[in-house]
Amino acid sequence: MRASFICVNKMGCRLLWIIVAFTLISMGESKKSTGESCHPDDLMGLISFKAGIRIDTSGRLERWVGRSCCKWEGISCDNTTGRVTQLLLPGFISTDVSILQTQMKGSLSPKITLLTSLQVIDLSELSFITGNIPTSIGFHLPNLRKLYLLRNKLSGPIPESIGKLSKLEEIILSENRFSGSLPLSLGNLKNLNRLLLDSNQFSGAIPDSLVNLTILVVLDLHHNYLNGHMPAKIGELQVLEQLDLSENLLSGKIPVSLTNITTVQDIDLSNNSLEGEIPFPSCSGQMPFLRFLALHHNHLTGRIPPALGYLVSLQRLYLENNKLNGPIPSSLGNLSDLRELYLSGNRLSGLIPIAFSRLSQLINLNLSNNLIRGLPHEMSSLQNLQTLTLSFNPLNFSSIPKWMAELPSISQIYMAGCGLQGEIPEFLQRKPIQELDLSANHLTGSIPSWLGGLSQLYLLNLSKNALVSEIPDSITRLHELGVLDLHSNKLTGSIIEVFKMGSILPGGSLRYIDLSHNSFSSGIEQIGAGEQHGIEFLNLSHNFLKGRLPTSIGRLELMRSLDLSHNELGFNLPESLGNVKSLERLKLEKNRFTGKIPDGYLMLRKLKELDLSDNLLVGQIPNGKPLDDFPRSSYSGNRALCGRPLAPCKP
Ligand SMILES: *[C@@H]1O[C@H](CO)[C@@H](O)[C@H](O)[C@H]1NC(C)=O
Ligand SMILES: *[C@@H]1O[C@H](CO)[C@@H](O)[C@H](O)[C@H]1NC(C)=O
Ligand SMILES: *[C@@H]1O[C@H](CO)[C@@H](O)[C@H](O)[C@H]1NC(C)=O
Ligand SMILES: *[C@@H]1O[C@H](CO)[C@@H](O)[C@H](O)[C@H]1NC(C)=O
Ligand SMILES: *[C@@H]1O[C@H](CO)[C@@H](O)[C@H](O)[C@H]1NC(C)=O
Ligand SMILES: *[C@@H]1O[C@H](CO)[C@@H](O)[C@H](O)[C@H]1NC(C)=O
Ligand SMILES: *[C@@H]1O[C@H](CO)[C@@H](O)[C@H](O)[C@H]1NC(C)=O
Ligand SMILES: *[C@@H]1O[C@H](CO)[C@@H](O)[C@H](O)[C@H]1NC(C)=O
Ligand SMILES: *[C@@H]1O[C@H](CO)[C@@H](O)[C@H](O)[C@H]1NC(C)=O
Repeated sequence: MRASFICVNKMGCRLLWIIVAFTLISMGESKKSTGESCHPDDLMGLISFKAGIRIDTSGRLERWVGRSCCKWEGISCDNTTGRVTQLLLPGFISTDVSILQTQMKGSLSPKITLLTSLQVIDLSELSFITGNIPTSIGFHLPNLRKLYLLRNKLSGPIPESIGKLSKLEEIILSENRFSGSLPLSLGNLKNLNRLLLDSNQFSGAIPDSLVNLTILVVLDLHHNYLNGHMPAKIGELQVLEQLDLSENLLSGKIPVSLTNITTVQDIDLSNNSLEGEIPFPSCSGQMPFLRFLALHHNHLTGRIPPALGYLVSLQRLYLENNKLNGPIPSSLGNLSDLRELYLSGNRLSGLIPIAFSRLSQLINLNLSNNLIRGLPHEMSSLQNLQTLTLSFNPLNFSSIPKWMAELPSISQIYMAGCGLQGEIPEFLQRKPIQELDLSANHLTGSIPSWLGGLSQLYLLNLSKNALVSEIPDSITRLHELGVLDLHSNKLTGSIIEVFKMGSILPGGSLRYIDLSHNSFSSGIEQIGAGEQHGIEFLNLSHNFLKGRLPTSIGRLELMRSLDLSHNELGFNLPESLGNVKSLERLKLEKNRFTGKIPDGYLMLRKLKELDLSDNLLVGQIPNGKPLDDFPRSSYSGNRALCGRPLAPCKP
């Protein structure tokens, strides 16, 4: 039987149900149906729910037939009362062999409140369920413990009545379109331990009443539009373990009372507009379990308080992109569990304290964009340090410090814009380097051929230095290289090695190549001829490259940005470039290209930027989009181009 009737109110439904049941019995069908029918309210609620859903890619609702709703997929009932206690239809369905992602389109029926014994509602990740949480939910579902509506298109406010659902333990509404202010009544939910409201459009202040959620474990309000000050009383949340208010529009100062949450393990207030100084801790012993403190992307001022050294459980500390100034306190060296420390983008000055050498667990240290003048050689004792970012500090080293050779685990070194002089130091060849950025310094000498031995190298940025050499042959051995930036040096010779590079990935690992502003003169004929077909960004502009663009350029099908401008390239433009359909930016100006613009370039539908000016091109510009949408300047300075956007061709 496929029941599809809609009822106006509970009484009406019951009446209707009795009629339907009676009809069925009299039709003699009931013997055949599996088991007893479920409670008429539950049946009505579920049928209305089903009626609201227009598309169910999982096919589960299609199999909801008959009256024994307790046997339906996704439904559980209490075995004594026979009432429906769980509605479990998550979008992700795991079977023994795989996880299937399914979707439902339609709107959430308000009749769901007929299921008055519900304890768990899980309609998460169905992608397209619209509608609201019924305003009266608090009056009808007194046993509700878990409400999971994650990742749908639900909207409207959280109804005030939700505060009556005193058994609620978890509310997950993340990634929907809910709006309005958070109801004060949330504070009545004394059993709540997870409240995840991130990625919605909630606004207004965080209600003071939340301080009464004394067993809250996770509070995640990020990606909203909440504003107003943080309630000072938030410090009463004494067994809160995780406080996440990141990515909102919170303003004002960080309340001192946070320190009163003695059990707190994680605090994330990042990406708000908080101001003033970091107010805690004030003495040792406060927040003894705090492992994670993220205050980054705010407007915090003043110094880093030396008292942070009391937070002995800290493992990760994020203070970047604030307005902190003054020296880094040596007490941070007391944080013996610290694994990650991010202080970049402030106005911190002075020297890194020697005490930092005691941070034996430190893995990642980011001090970029500050006013730091020096590092102690004692830091060589940081046995676990993998990533060291010192870029854009006035370090004034005459060369890369030798003690770095003693860091056994170092694999990512960022020292751009640090005033480095001298050559690329040889000791680096004994390190498992994956990322090396020494750009924007005053490095001289050559690109050493031992670089080819850095078998794990993924990123190499030596741009904006004064390196004078050819690209060494050994570079073809960098099978994992993805990003190569050598622009603005004095490099000469051929670029052929770059296109001959081997690769671990089919199609090539290289994605980004910038060799612009050098003095390269040959090798263009190998473009696209090797294994590297995954190139998305290629800039060879401002060199002395000569010759013809090969047909193989058409094999670089993923390319989005190609800049060969300001060279000495000639002959006809290759037809095959029309195959590079992902191309968004094509710059070939200031070369010596001749002949006509190939008609095939009309297939470059994604092209947003084109410059063919100052070449020797002739003939009619192919007629149509996108070519005739570009300004005249894209075509100016050629020998004899005509047609839109230039003057019409003479017959
Ligand atoms: C009823 O359910 C409870 C747990 O939910 C279970 O322990 C019990 O064995 C069940 N009783 C029957 C008769 O199935
Ligand atoms: C917290 O709960 C107490 C007692 O249950 C109540 O008196 C107080 O008003 C509540 N605080 C807020 C801010 O709701
Ligand atoms: C901060 O939040 C906004 C809005 O949610 C988001 O667009 C932005 O990327 C976030 N910024 C950072 C640094 O996370
Ligand atoms: C925090 O704790 C201190 C002492 O432990 C107490 O004096 C203060 O009133 C508390 N603050 C709040 C906001 O609860
Ligand atoms: C850091 O440790 C030193 C000695 O080990 C101690 O004198 C100092 O009080 C500590 N400071 C903080 C803020 O923990
Ligand atoms: C270091 O911090 C800067 C600025 O916040 C950021 O752009 C960069 O990605 C960080 N580097 C690493 C390796 O984390
Ligand atoms: C940095 O180096 C420049 C010149 O090499 C020098 O004038 C300046 O005093 C140095 N600054 C510091 C802080 O050592
Ligand atoms: C290389 O470094 C320069 C200067 O520091 C920077 O502008 C450029 O974006 C970097 N290249 C890559 C690919 O990150
Ligand atoms: C290519 O490099 C030149 C010089 O470094 C620069 O001016 C130009 O903007 C770059 N082109 C693209 C498309 O990024």
